[in-house]
Amino acid sequence: MDSDRTFLDRVYDLEPGEQTRGFYDDWSRSYDDEVARQGYATPARAAAALAGQARDKSAPLLDLGCGTGLSGQAFHAAGFTTIDGTDLSAEMLAQARAKGVYRQLTQTDLDDPLPFAAGAYPMIAAVGVLTPGHAPAATVAAVMARLPRGGLFVFSLNDHGLASADYTGRINDQLDCCAAQLLFREHGAHLPGIGMESTVFVLKKA
Ligand SMILES: C[S@@+](CC[C@H](N)C(=O)[O-])C[C@H]1O[C@@H](n2cnc3c(N)ncnc32)[C@H](O)[C@@H]1O
Repeated sequence: MDSDRTFLDRVYDLEPGEQTRGFYDDWSRSYDDEVARQGYATPARAAAALAGQARDKSAPLLDLGCGTGLSGQAFHAAGFTTIDGTDLSAEMLAQARAKGVYRQLTQTDLDDPLPFAAGAYPMIAAVGVLTPGHAPAATVAAVMARLPRGGLFVFSLNDHGLASADYTGRINDQLDCCAAQLLFREHGAHLPGIGMESTVFVLKKA
């Protein structure tokens, strides 16, 4: 059994689906401490990137795959005031609720159609979520289809996501057909304690 491997040792081996949900349910109470020990940097980087592009930080922001709410906390600290969250794991959502920064939290699977109307959110985030075993690459097009014109999508790809032509290809699809404009892209620290990096992107819907 895996008992001497940490959650972080195992998270990049996940297959999508029930296994991922159960894994995060089990990780929910120790997630914040474990990622903090490794210097989890992407939420603050994504929040700063979005803050640099957003015109109205009081407009609704949807944090997809919000987990325990570390991403929501970072957006809140960067000045965003109307933040909703979704996640696959009810236990991760319970931790997020306790952070007190979300207006509304909903349990949803990003493998299913997105459960909100087109235009409902002018800003959407996915921090640490677009990676193998987690949200599918098709999420990129699904999110862009739901944004209003001029809406912003901030997201990260870690080294595993960046190595997958599936994820990077879906970003290029948006840019190549001029459906979106790339406002921001920066490579930097993700979990420096384990040598993992990420790229933060901000896409604007044309
Ligand atoms: C690495 S955590 C990131 C959480 C948070 N955004 C953060 O930055 O700390 C990934 C989250 O994505 C969620 N997740 C994974 N696959 C998902 C899916 N298909 N649909 C919705 N959420 C998913 C997990 O439950 C987990 O909470």
